[in-house]
Amino acid sequence: MIKLNPPLPVVAGGHPGFVTGMSATHARVEWSDGIKSQPAPTSAVISTGTKQYKIAIKSADNQLIQFAESSLAVALDLLHGLRKGQHIDLCATEDVEHSGKKNGFDAVTLPVVALPEVAWNDVSTSTTFMGRTFSAPILITGMTGGVARGTLINERLARAASQCGVPMGVGSQRMALENPEHAGIFKLKDKFKDLFLIGNIGIGQLREANYLDLCKRAVEMINADALAIHVNVLQELIQEEGDRDFRGLLDKIANVSASLAVQVIVKEVGAGLDVATAKALNDRGVKYFDVGGSGGTSWAHIEGLRSDDSLIRRRGEIFRDWGIPTAEAVSSLRREIPDAQIIATGGIRDGLTALKALYIGANMVGIGLPLMRAALVGDDEPANLLRAVIQELKIAKICSGSIR
Ligand SMILES: Cc1cc2nc3c(=O)[nH]c(=O)nc-3n(C[C@H](O)[C@H](O)[C@H](O)COP(=O)(O)O)c2cc1C
Repeated sequence: MIKLNPPLPVVAGGHPGFVTGMSATHARVEWSDGIKSQPAPTSAVISTGTKQYKIAIKSADNQLIQFAESSLAVALDLLHGLRKGQHIDLCATEDVEHSGKKNGFDAVTLPVVALPEVAWNDVSTSTTFMGRTFSAPILITGMTGGVARGTLINERLARAASQCGVPMGVGSQRMALENPEHAGIFKLKDKFKDLFLIGNIGIGQLREANYLDLCKRAVEMINADALAIHVNVLQELIQEEGDRDFRGLLDKIANVSASLAVQVIVKEVGAGLDVATAKALNDRGVKYFDVGGSGGTSWAHIEGLRSDDSLIRRRGEIFRDWGIPTAEAVSSLRREIPDAQIIATGGIRDGLTALKALYIGANMVGIGLPLMRAALVGDDEPANLLRAVIQELKIAKICSGSIR
């Protein structure tokens, strides 16, 4: 059960109270007036501030209500929105990164050229990726902004991507695939026409019988230029409500990759993509890999932080630093799969580290958490941060003689 802080107001059978915790099937409630002696309510209205969710009740006692079968889809929609909102709150206020922040780039040394014989204006950071030319090899990596803040966050990130001439990924489109009401959060091309936009779906959705259709719908929903499939086994296993069956995914990913009209990127989210998995996918035709290495945002830690279950909190701490450091993941993939297109994400925080990632074999560099935090601050903050990173990249290029 996830803990809700602040709790959500609920009214059931005329009784007010607060929902303090929720799972896919139950809500933990503190009733303001107690309902023990009353007939059990048959429905509840839970308010999130932006929306009211009417949920039929199967059973209720003083502390717990169980949702009726007929309302499980509504409850799940509410739960997903709450989860994404909690991710944002935790990312905004807590230290959610791997504890040592060991992304492996300390061990990477760039050459130094004391007299590079070049003028600032003659040095370009531009690159070509997936057939498009971008002003820098930097990608705003896919992040979900939740239901309440999703539109604002995505718009701010999309504005930054457009102004700076870099591609952008959206976060998981699962919410909108399950409930089209949320699709507006992701429709960024209506406003930012030239945006190179990468859709996002998780391995969880590949378990559905109609997974190919879901992937096609995800692309069509936002007119995506590519689709990222996120691989987050550790996060799922930490979550109480997460998936537990990961069989058959290599072939399904290959099937998606072969069936879509756009390229597919397989994307880890912080535990690192290993060579054996990448090779198995590459043998099946996948060419684009986001290594999502350790040393940046830690999803094990975030899942632990948002739970009120001591066992899950313990798991989150134990696995906080699990994974392949980003630099190691990039260099091993480059060595073993020379023609792979590699995105280095996970703990990239500045332009010097970005150049190190490119130097050891990445084609692009992805940045998540700092851009999400910037998007929570103001309209122009993400673009300001991107410009700073691009300038640092340029300084590093000149001083290391990496001038092409
Ligand atoms: C608030 C937040 C939400 C995220 N949501 C998603 C998501 O929905 N899908 C996904 O593939 N990755 C998601 N990510 C993971 C990022 O794309 C990235 O892989 C990860 O944060 C590591 O990069 P970083 O260290 O620069 O943050 C999210 C990251 C953050 C910070």
